[in-house]
Amino acid sequence: MYDRDKALALMEKYLETEHLVKHSYAVEAVMKALGKKLDPENVERWAFAGLVHDMDADMVDYKNDENHLHGPKATEILKEENLGDEEIYHAICAHNKATGVKVESIMDRALYAADPITGFITAITFVYPDKKISSVKAKSITKRMKETRFAAGADREAMRSIEKLGIAFPDFAAMSLDAMKDISEELGL
Ligand SMILES: [Fe+2]
Repeated sequence: MYDRDKALALMEKYLETEHLVKHSYAVEAVMKALGKKLDPENVERWAFAGLVHDMDADMVDYKNDENHLHGPKATEILKEENLGDEEIYHAICAHNKATGVKVESIMDRALYAADPITGFITAITFVYPDKKISSVKAKSITKRMKETRFAAGADREAMRSIEKLGIAFPDFAAMSLDAMKDISEELGL
């Protein structure tokens, strides 16, 4: 049900954009860290949700095509392959506002916040002369949150909404940074 190899094979098939594949690994790592904190008995499921959340991103029209909406399309593929579960499908759909699916469960909220923070941390990494994530300090993430023009596409409200799960933003930043540092080679950072 949460078979990582099967998920990777599907991603190989459907996800062509390299930065989206790396983004998927990053969100997997952050979700795993959040799972350890919020739902320690189900860490594998949480990591799985992060890994597959964007697997339809190269095959959908994000906003315009109601029949091929980002999130529901991934859910459809996963169901066909007997992968995932209802909570994961809900979280995947809720992370794309265009679906109209509301962020409700703890997993929904975690994915909603984990998705933008990975791109935000990557953008911060690229500011450093060596472009290495090992140079990034957790403090700089919190600082950059206030610079609204920096990585303007990273949804501040979504990242900060992690606080609704009782995790202070600086802790979330540190946790996400560590999770990404652990897989820096896969991320090319
Ligand atoms: Fe994503």
